[in-house]
Amino acid sequence: MGKTKKAWGGRFGEGTDTQVEAYTASISFDWRLYPYDVQGSIAYARALMKAGVLTGVEAGRIIRGLEEIKKELDKGRLDPDPAHEDIHMYIEGRLIEKIGEVGGKLHTGRSRNEQVALDLRLYLRAETGEIVREIRALQEALLDQAETHLDVIMPGYTHLQRAQPLLWAHHLLAYVEMLRRDGARFRDGLQRVTVMPLGSGALAGTAYAIDRAALAEELGFPEVSRNSVDAVSDRDFAVEFLAASSITMMHLSRLCEEIILWASTEFGFVDIPEAFATGSSLMPQKKNPDVAELARGKTGRVFGDLIALLTAMKGLPLSYNRDLQEDKERVFDAVDTLRGTLQVLAPLLRGLRVNADRMRQATEEGFLNATDAADYLVSKGLPFRRAHEVVGKIVRYCIEQRKRLEELSREELSRYSPLFDAGFYTYIALDASLHRRAVVGGTAPKQVRKAIQVIRAELKKEMGKK
Ligand code: ARG
Repeated sequence: MGKTKKAWGGRFGEGTDTQVEAYTASISFDWRLYPYDVQGSIAYARALMKAGVLTGVEAGRIIRGLEEIKKELDKGRLDPDPAHEDIHMYIEGRLIEKIGEVGGKLHTGRSRNEQVALDLRLYLRAETGEIVREIRALQEALLDQAETHLDVIMPGYTHLQRAQPLLWAHHLLAYVEMLRRDGARFRDGLQRVTVMPLGSGALAGTAYAIDRAALAEELGFPEVSRNSVDAVSDRDFAVEFLAASSITMMHLSRLCEEIILWASTEFGFVDIPEAFATGSSLMPQKKNPDVAELARGKTGRVFGDLIALLTAMKGLPLSYNRDLQEDKERVFDAVDTLRGTLQVLAPLLRGLRVNADRMRQATEEGFLNATDAADYLVSKGLPFRRAHEVVGKIVRYCIEQRKRLEELSREELSRYSPLFDAGFYTYIALDASLHRRAVVGGTAPKQVRKAIQVIRAELKKEMGKK
């Protein structure tokens, strides 16, 4: 039956079934929390000493023991036997093995329920810092692309139909904005991550004189949790993290979808660097955008992680329930997927080769300047709704005649309105169209250059803060 004697085995006459051990164990994945578990335990040992539970000598031995265990684990020396249950029991067991009975004093007044909550919070604080940095690196890659191609014009789309001309840089800056909100969401979430739960005990609060404020300070958390029942039950911070991850992945997936389209022969707008593309086992000519496709595909995993945790939470009575152990694989999967995607997309974007001629050609067909033609009539005093109709009719004529708006003669134009004169042709030119959109947030080159400066300055300031 049972393989090992359990730390909690006192009230049991029988060992644990091995299948149950395998089913309930979390050590195969929660080993990733070990640096944080050790950090939390060291802080807790100090708190126990201050509370008079441990002597200075005892606390010293425990802390040194924990530091040695951390070193062992850094070297990958973990025994992943499910009989150990989880990383918390593993480290405690190893501590007692190393320093003897006194190691058994560490868990005085403490529960794994608060311990695991702290570990996950410490872990998410660290990962959030990395994610914020990686989001910024991707923004820089997009900004560099935008800045080196400030003169590239592309068709802008609505409904995936050519709509109005845009600067390619302006289009890229849209993603910089999405990522700006993503970074802000992760940073904001930190407020709810960095709440210190130790002292909550199993659920009712510890009976020992633990200085919770000092513990929070030692761990660099600005707040202590205010209710012990909530502290061991709450996973809002993890749900929020998964929501922020999902939204970021949704943005990355949209970007990847566009890269896939742009790299197709049909569009031919960009070339993916060869080191970031893949071939076909059968078709010798193929160069496929697998990285972008996988990023799009993996987005579903992260959405799944969010829904899985929300679903695990929705029926839980207070306070701790073992269901909460299911949070970790979801969080780890989201972290790995999001960070892996951010890391691979930054160099891919930097290496993207832009086919400026193809993009410009694409703006020449599809009447992208039809709005400008209507605006031209408006500038001559025609109400917009009438101008819209006139230009609509002209577009219809152009389609029949296989002509562009700028190819129509003055005589042809005059059949639709007496307001047309020689100024029409310069008014509807691509560059004029771009330059007129000079509002804040518009695609006029002057505004786009300014937008790049503004976001660069913001990123620099943000980096200074960290
Ligand atoms: N492995 C557990 C988890 O991840 C740790 C807490 C276990 N607590 C308990 N009372 N069984 O949630």
